[in-house]
This record gives sequence, structure tokens and C-alpha cells, in this order.
Amino acid sequence: MILEKRNFYLTTPIYYPNSNLHLGHTYTTIVADVLKKYKQAQGYDVFFTTGTDEHGQKLQDSALKAGKKPLEYIDPIVESAKELWKILNIDFDAFVRSTDSIHEKNVSEIFTKLYDKGEIYKGSYKGKYCVPCEAFWTDSQLVDGNKCPDCGREVVESEEETYFFKLSKYGDRLLELYEKNPDFIQPESRKNEMISFIKEGLTDLSVTRSSFDWGVKVPFDEKHVVYVWIDALSCYLTGIGYGVDDEKFNKFWPCDVHLVGKEIMRFHAIIWPAILMALDLPLPKKIFGHGWILFDEDKMSKSKGNVVYAEPIIERYGMDALRYFMLREFTFGQDGNFTYTKMLNRINSDLVNDLGNLVSRTVAMCEKYFEGFVPKATDIIDLDKELIDLAVSVREKVDFEMDKLNFSGALEEIWKLVRRTNKYIDETTPWVLIKEDKERLKTVIYNLLDSIRIISGLIKPFMAETSTKINKQLGISGSDFEGLRKFGLLEEGTKVCKGENLFNRLEVEKELEIISENNKKLIEKRKQENTTKDETEIVEEEKITIDDFAKIELKVGKVLECEQHPKADRLLVFKIDLGNEVRTIVSGIRKFYSQTDLIGKKVIVVTNLKPVNLRGVESNGMILAASDDKNLSVLTVLSDMEEGTKVS
Ligand code: ME8
Ligand code: MG
Repeated sequence: MILEKRNFYLTTPIYYPNSNLHLGHTYTTIVADVLKKYKQAQGYDVFFTTGTDEHGQKLQDSALKAGKKPLEYIDPIVESAKELWKILNIDFDAFVRSTDSIHEKNVSEIFTKLYDKGEIYKGSYKGKYCVPCEAFWTDSQLVDGNKCPDCGREVVESEEETYFFKLSKYGDRLLELYEKNPDFIQPESRKNEMISFIKEGLTDLSVTRSSFDWGVKVPFDEKHVVYVWIDALSCYLTGIGYGVDDEKFNKFWPCDVHLVGKEIMRFHAIIWPAILMALDLPLPKKIFGHGWILFDEDKMSKSKGNVVYAEPIIERYGMDALRYFMLREFTFGQDGNFTYTKMLNRINSDLVNDLGNLVSRTVAMCEKYFEGFVPKATDIIDLDKELIDLAVSVREKVDFEMDKLNFSGALEEIWKLVRRTNKYIDETTPWVLIKEDKERLKTVIYNLLDSIRIISGLIKPFMAETSTKINKQLGISGSDFEGLRKFGLLEEGTKVCKGENLFNRLEVEKELEIISENNKKLIEKRKQENTTKDETEIVEEEKITIDDFAKIELKVGKVLECEQHPKADRLLVFKIDLGNEVRTIVSGIRKFYSQTDLIGKKVIVVTNLKPVNLRGVESNGMILAASDDKNLSVLTVLSDMEEGTKVS
């Protein structure tokens, strides 16, 4: 019987060109890649589109600032994004640049079609515009009076002649779509947000701009360019051959799932289906809005300096460890706080202890007791049956979780088997059986090895490298995905061969220091490289409130002693009198002051900093200084003030 080939189309967002894609950005692409590989293993013909969103005022401005033509400015950035996807092993099928000529032609045709159908009309727009998000907002949508509800930055007053898309007429059809297709918007919480947004009343959408020209020109009115979101969303069509390859297009459209971050849900769940309805195109089956990867409970952002990059992690712990951690730790759909500690602990517990140990113990026992040849299982007892029943049932459970895009749940199902198999070793005690019952030992070792075959097959879409390493140790080239529902497929007599550890145990404290330092170095390196490129990420001018400031305790202190740090040339160790106490404070100002320069001087000290250990000396505070590239000067008070006086 020939099974009908099933098709599956998935997309990630079309990213803004960014030469510093961080762990948050890579999250969606890793997820997409895992999903693609899982669906392929299940027998689907899968197509995966990603790309870059290269038009718009923001990019035009950035290029201008860098003294370059837009593409001259963007090309190397796009290359660096592609480079990262390569490092991460992301297996996309189409990378659509919104500046590709085929795509520009599509956008222009789509726009004309909508206009000809009466879905777009000319008018004028006056309102509040968020430049970074390229979005107009109504007063009721703004937060704190004048801030963009998406990014929180201030909007500007803007008026222009513009074309409108008749979004307002689609409210009811969208609500009906959500109701008839309960899975269209996932997770559930995002659906409720969309519903209330629509119920507040949709207004027609301004879909052209005339204040800049870096975009697809409206073919019949060239002083306008098409709104970037219409442009970017259409990349999903271009990726599968819209306008050029009908066969491919019809094979993969409608899309099975658009994976997007929660902040761009509205564009995907409201505007996009409305546009498609207007074009008489079938609608995507699902929009999944995932959460954000936070760092220190805050959204990662280069301007805040709290970014974590994937590269140093991959370099030190490997791609598979990162993929496993990202998918296992965070619930797809919810925000998750990234910490290196969590990652290192999970590598140790799940990958080293659970999986790594299982494989190395089992293969070692097969080598020791049976010269490495897979023995034949004979009598199956209840205890074996329990393991076998679990092993053959996991595939279905993982399918079920993957259908829900519950990656964490899918891995948890696999790990239940990993842990159960480890427990089976402890229950059967092969080291006793070798002395007492070698026949029984054959069955036990066989069951262990065949469970590992199943585990290896199940983890392959998540961790291809690890799966390959395990298969190599088992002496097989891989397992048919359907064969993961069956027990007993590992052939008797196959030669197993112990390899290197799959994962090495990590000393968490030591690694924590190394990996944070490596990440910091990369941040610094990119800062230097990208002084001009960086403009694509609009720097948020964050203001703090008086309450934020009040959290910092500043006091006048008198320098009592000062010594050279025993281990670091650039550090001085001060004893500072703060009136009611004397503090040790380490400061990196050796280049500017000698040991005696500051003795007896009054300085300003931050007194409520958490203590830090600087190369073996605990520092309890910070001495304030003004500095630029060349000079540094410690702050003091103009008239004599008592030690311990508060500064505010
Ligand atoms: O929005 N955690 O592009 P983009 C999780 N061009 N996801 C994160 C993240 C984090 N810390 N930071 C960013 C755009 N992302 C548009 C898309 S689609 C037709 C046009 C995710 O480069 C973010 O949620 O700003 C989004 O899904 C993706 O990175 C690309 O964001
Ligand atoms: Mg964004």
C-alpha cells in the first residue's frame, strides 16, 4: 500500500535584519527546525520558510546614518543571520528576503489585486505612529497616554495621505474563524486577547506610507510604498512559490503553522487572515504565539545589555545541549527566564546522568558480559513487560504532544522512558545475574539495548548528533520511525561499541564563570564591530523613577588605607570609613591613582551593592568616578562633610 504523502508547511517570522541575533531570536528557529524534523520523520513532506524583513523607515534611517545605500547596509547583516542559522543547523527550505525581486513583484501584484477588488481605498491618516514598530495606534490603544502598546516607546504625531485596507469589515468573519477553528490561535490565552481586540472594534488599516521610499512602490501611485507588515507577511507566500510555481504553492498552502512571538500576534491572527480572506486565499491552520525568553526576568535586548548569545553555548556544550535545554526547560507559549545555572544543571541531570549514563552503562555491560554482541532475549517476565510496554507506547505520546506543539511535554515523555530504563538496571542488577543467571542476563541486556534504540530514534529530531552517536554505539545506522512503536527490532548478534561520553559532567560553579565570561566577551566584540550596524535595534531610552533612584544608597566615605590587590595589577583594595563602619572596597582605578593618592580623601560610595568577590577579595561597595576613554576622576564633595553623610 502506498501511503498518501502528506504535506506540512511551517514558518518562523521574517526577521528584521539584525547582526546580533540572540538566544530569544534563535528560540523560534530551533523550535521550527525540531518541528520540521519531527514531521519529516512522521512521513510528511515539509517546507519551512524563514527570511528577513528589509524594508521600512527604520532600515532606511539606519543605512543613512551608516552612510550607505540600504542594500549595501543590509546585505552583510543578512549574511550574518544566515551564518548563525548555519551554525545552529537550521534546515530551512526558503529564506525570503523581502527585497528579493520575486517577492517585490508579488507584493506589488497583491496590492493591485486588493485595490482592484475594492479592498483598498485612498484616504488620509492622522494619528499616533510608532516608528520602531511601524504602526499607527488609536488613542485608546496607547498606554500611559503616548506610548506604543507593543514596545512601550513614545509615539509621534503623524499625518499622511494613505491607502487603507478595509480591515474593519472583517471583524465578524475573524471571530467566526476563531470560533469554528478552536485551534487557530494557540495558546488559548492569546486567543482571548485577539477576541477582545476585535470586539473593541477594528478600524481600517493604513497600508501605505509616503514619508519615506524604502519599500515596494504602489504600482499605480509611486509616491507610496506598501506598509512593511503587508510586505513581510506576504513573504510566507513567496517562500512556497506564489506567483511563480503554482504546483509548489498549491501543495503547501494553506500554511499548517505560523510560529510567532507573542508581540506580533495581532499582525498574524487578525491582519494576515483578513488580507488572505480579501485575496480569496485559504487561511493558515494555526498561529502559535510563543512567549519570550527572559534574562533576569526582563526581555533580552541589546540596548539593555542583557543578551545571551547562542554561539558561546554551542561552542562549549554543543548544539544538542542547547536545543534540548531550550525545548525542555521552557513551555512553548509562555515566557521563560533563562539562566546559565538552570542550563548547566539540566545538562548534568538530564543529559549526563539520565541519558549519558544509561547508554554508557548498558553498552559497557554488553561489552563486558557478551563481548559486545547483542544477546538474544528469551523469557520475558512481568518486570520486562512493564519496560517494554512503556517503550513501545512513547512514540504515540510524543506524537500527541508534538501535535500540540508541547515540546517540553514531548521530551518529558521520552525522559520517562530514559529514567525507567535506568531504573530497570537497578532492579535487574546485571552484575549479580552474571554470576547467577546468564540466560536471564541476556534478556535484560537485550531489553536495555532495544529501549535505547527507541530512545535514540525519538530524540533524533531534537538532537540529531546525539542520536547518531548512540546509534553508532549500538552498531546500527538508525531506526525506522515506525519501528519506534515496536520492541525487538535490534538484531541479535549486532556488535555494539562503547564510544566517548555523550555529555561530560560539568562543574557548575566553574562553568558559570567561564560561560558568562565568554558571553560577555562576545557582547564586547559585537559592540566594537557594530558601532554603525547597531542602529536597527532602536535604543530604548529608559528613564527611571525617583523610586528607582532611591534604591541606591550613596554615602560620603573617607579613605583610610589603600593597598595593591594581591592578584590583580589593575585593582586597588581600599579601607573606607563610613562613619559607623569601615568597609573593604575593591576598585579598578590603579591606572589612575597610586596607593597613596587618595588617603584621607572624601569619596562617594555606593553602600548597598551586593558584595562581590573580585579575584579573592570581597568588595563591599563601589567608589564613584567619572571616566571617559582616557581619564578617570574619583568623585568628592566640595566642602568637608562627615563620613557617613547620605548623598541624594
Ligand atoms: O517582529 N524571546 O521581527 P523581529 C523569544 N520583522 N522570542 C524573541 C525574543 C525573546 N527574547 N526576542 C525576539 C519582527 N524574539 C518582524 C516579523 S513576520 C511577517 C515579521 C522573536 O526580528 C520575536 O518574538 O523583531 C519574533 O517572533 C522574532 O524574534 C522576530 O522578531
Ligand atoms: Mg520585534
